[in-house]
Amino acid sequence: MPEESRSFQRAGMTVRVFPDAGAASRAAADRIASTIRAASPGHRAILGMATGATPQKVYSHLASLHAAGGLSFRDAVTYNLDEYYPIQPLDPKSYRCYMHRHFFSLVDLPPQQGHVLDGTVPEGFVAAHCAEFERWIEADGGLDLQLLGIGRNGHIGFNEPSELTVAEALALPTRLIELHPLTREDAAREFGGVDKVIPRALTLGVRAILSARSILMLATGAHKAEAVAAALAGQMRASLPASLLQAAGERVTWLVDEAAASGVS
Ligand code: GLP
Repeated sequence: MPEESRSFQRAGMTVRVFPDAGAASRAAADRIASTIRAASPGHRAILGMATGATPQKVYSHLASLHAAGGLSFRDAVTYNLDEYYPIQPLDPKSYRCYMHRHFFSLVDLPPQQGHVLDGTVPEGFVAAHCAEFERWIEADGGLDLQLLGIGRNGHIGFNEPSELTVAEALALPTRLIELHPLTREDAAREFGGVDKVIPRALTLGVRAILSARSILMLATGAHKAEAVAAALAGQMRASLPASLLQAAGERVTWLVDEAAASGVS
C-alpha cells in the first residue's frame, strides 16, 4: 500500500495526503484496480477517466500492473470526462489521442469499451451527442468510479467557474463549453501558444460526475494548493466547481500530495 502521511474529513469528504505525487497516483491506480477486481461477470467495472498532466502516473501504474499480469481491463468500460471541440481524434492534442498514448494502447481494454466524447460531431448534433453519452453511461449501470483532476481555477472536467446558483451548477448536463482564460493559459504549452488553444470543449456535466458511486479527486503540486484549499473550505459555489463535490459527501475521496495540501487548514 502507498505510504499515506495523514487523512482527515472535510465537508463529509475524505482527504488523504501523500508525501509525493507518485504515492498519491499509486493510491488512485490501486482504487481503480480494486474497482475492476470487485466487478462480477454480471457487472463490468464502469470507469470515468480524466486527462491532463496529473493522471499520467496513474495510467503508467495501471499499465505496469497489467504488464505484470496482475490486472485485465477486458471486462472494464471507460468513459472520458472531456474533449476539445472541434478536434480530430488523430490530432495529437486530442484527449482521444492522449488516452491512446497513455492508456488504451498499453492495456487490453477492448477498443469498443473505451469511450471519449467525439470532437468531430457537427455542431448541430453536439447536444444530442452529449445527451447520448450520458445515456450510454446510464445504460451501462452508471459510473462505479470517476477519476478527476482540478484546474487552477477549480474546474472539474471542463466545468468552468460560473455565476450560476448552486442548484443550477449541480444540475449542469454534458455539453459544449467555452474555456476559461486561465484554462487556456494552462493549455498554451501543449498547443504551442495561448492563441492556438482550441477555445471550446465538450465536458461531462456536473450532474453526471456527481452521480458516480465513488469519486476520486487527484491533485498534486503546489500550483493546485489554492484551488484545493478553497474547494475543501466554505460552502459550495458555482464560482469554484470543485467545491460542488461536497454534494457527493462520503462518496468523494481527495488524493493529494503534501504540496497540493499545503493550503488546507
Ligand atoms: C484540464 C482537463 C481537466 C483536468 C484539469 C487539470 O483542462 N480538462 O479534466 O483535470 O485541466 O489538468 P492538469 O492535470 O494538467 O493540471
